[in-house]
Formats: sequence, C-alpha cells, structure tokens
Amino acid sequence: MTQRVVSGIKPTGNLHLGNYLGAVKQWVAMQDQVQASGGETLYFIADLHGLTEWIAPADLRAQTIEMTATLVAAGIDPDRSILFNQTRVPAHSELTWLLNNVARVGWLNRMTQFKDKAGKNREGASIGLYDYPVLMAADVLLYNATHVPVGEDQKQHLELARDIATKFNADYATGLFTLPEPLVSAAAPRIMSLRDASSKMSKSNPSEQSVVKLIDSDDTIADKFRKAKTDPEALPDSWEALADRPEARNLVTIYAALADRTPQAVVEQFAGQGFGAFKPALADLAVATLGPIRDEMVRLLDDRGAIEAILDKGAAKARALATPTLRAAQDAMGLLT
Ligand code: TYM
Repeated sequence: MTQRVVSGIKPTGNLHLGNYLGAVKQWVAMQDQVQASGGETLYFIADLHGLTEWIAPADLRAQTIEMTATLVAAGIDPDRSILFNQTRVPAHSELTWLLNNVARVGWLNRMTQFKDKAGKNREGASIGLYDYPVLMAADVLLYNATHVPVGEDQKQHLELARDIATKFNADYATGLFTLPEPLVSAAAPRIMSLRDASSKMSKSNPSEQSVVKLIDSDDTIADKFRKAKTDPEALPDSWEALADRPEARNLVTIYAALADRTPQAVVEQFAGQGFGAFKPALADLAVATLGPIRDEMVRLLDDRGAIEAILDKGAAKARALATPTLRAAQDAMGLLT
C-alpha cells in the first residue's frame, strides 16, 4: 500500500526541542523517504486543538503563522508536503461531529492527557479538551493516513483513532477508514524537562529554563544547557549504566538525537568525562543545529503574505483529498439523501 503520512502540531507557544526531536525531525525525514516511494506527506497546524486551552485570539493568529514558518525553516517543503492549518479545511470539524457518535464516553475517560490537563477541575474543563482525541481521529482518518509520526505522549490518542475507525467500519459495514499506525521516534520518544527529568519538556512547563525553544537566541540555548540539572558523576561507558540517572539519560538522548547517533555511541565518546565537559559540547551541538532553523524562520516571517499563501495552497490540496472521505462517511451514515 502507498504510504500516506499525516501529523499535526498545536500552534500554542513556539516549537520546542521536544516537538522537534520527537516529531518534526521525523516529519522531514519521512518527507524524503515516503515521496521517493510514491507516497504523500501531510502536515498541519492544529489550530482547532489550540482552542482546547485558553489562548488569546491575537496570539493564536500570530502563532499559527510563526509555527508554519518554523516548520518550513525546519525542512518541511510546501511544494512536496501538503502544509496547512485545520481551520482552512472544514472537513476536520465536520468529520469530528460524525465520529463523536461512534466514540464512547468510556474510551475518552481513559485518556491520560485529559486527566493530566483537567487535573482536579474536571467539571470546569472544556468539552473541547475532552473531545480532543476525536478531532485527532478525524485529522488522520480523513486522509486515510497509514502512518502518523508523533511523540510517545500521543500514542494513546492514536490507539483511540484506530478503535473509532474499527467501530465505524463495523457499525456501517464499510471498509472506509484505514487504521493509522503511530510511528514513535526510537531516538527521541520523549524529551524531558531540563530542570526536572520526571516531567516531559512542554510549552506549559512553568520554568522557562526547562524548555529549549527554537526561537531562543544562541546564548539562551547554550545557557539553558549549561544550567540543566545533572548529577555529579562522570559518564559511564554504557547506556544501560545510566538507568537510574534520569537527568543524564535525558541529556545523552538529546545529544544522540541531535547528532543522529545512538545513545550508546555518545556515552562511549564521553565515557569518564563529567558534565562540565559534556554540557558545553551539547550546547555547541544544539546551537549549531537549531540556530540556522531559527534564523531562517525569522527571515521567512518578514513576508507574512507568503506564509498565508503556503497555507492557502496546502489547504486547497488537503480539501481535495478530504472531501471524498467526508462524503463517503456521510453517505455510509445515511446523511446524503
Ligand atoms: P503538540 O503540539 O503537543 O506536539 C507536537 C508533537 O511533538 C511531540 N512532543 C514530544 N515528543 C517528545 N518529547 C517531548 N517532550 C514532546 N512534546 C511534544 C508530540 O507527541 C507531537 O507529536 N495532539 C497533537 C497534535 C495533533 C496531531 C493530530 C498529531 C493534532 N491532531 C493528528 C498527530 C495526528 C499534539 O499533542 O501536538
């Protein structure tokens, strides 16, 4: 079967190192691989998911444009991949409503992201936050995605998308929806906070120091790595020996993912050295990799109209692929008379 790769990112906050290494770097690699074998790659800004936690309208507007520029700067080529935002393709919202009638409350109640984000205030959480995974299912099922490159935290949502697709196909006796396969990067399944290795690196983390953003200046990136939490021990000569050292594991993971090497190769290179030597090396590597992406993003943002044009063009292509699936789902459910 030809591969159809689909994935999305919320425009809430700037792209950070966790998003980049966990997802976007894979998106770029797949753009080349998949297209060489005749498949297609679709990447979108999940602006509708952005609404599930309060964001000021002006920020959402600006960050949608910034995120698009960042993705292009990171290597997503809008002439080769279909790059758009959900709002420009209304079929995402329309299919969500149809799938809301297939998804079960019990299934959504098991979603750990909702539990984490709603916290103790479940009653005060928005319906959008609760329904988030159903919109995600619509995002991928609309395009019959075969593969969905994501960080590990999104795997549960994709299992749900598979359950929804299976139930829809069974309830309406159709083979309409393809079951999407989550692809989690082996190199960077989960990048953790630089201040607390028990929580993932995330834009909602309260400490600025814990998150490396692609918009950060070279000095800020270097400073965040120099001040990252570590332990006083030297690096061992095997990756397994880091099992009980979560901060050290995280920094080695980041180094390996940035350098496209295995964590084992990285520990071998630095074996016997302390973090006084390792952290500056990591800072240099991060600045060398992320700095050019930031500079290109800033350059692209000079021409906001050009970014809008990329989204318009991508959305037109996405609508052409999405509309037949939406119509087929409506037809299967008896909505077309
Ligand atoms: P978002 O914007 O939160 O994250 C975008 C991608 O980055 C990954 N990621 C991480 N990977 C490793 N370590 C981390 N610390 C880290 N933090 C984030 C996420 O797993 C994700 O792949 N719900 C999605 C957006 C979305 C989507 C979709 C994805 C909406 N519809 C359909 C795939 C298919 C999300 O959480 O994005």
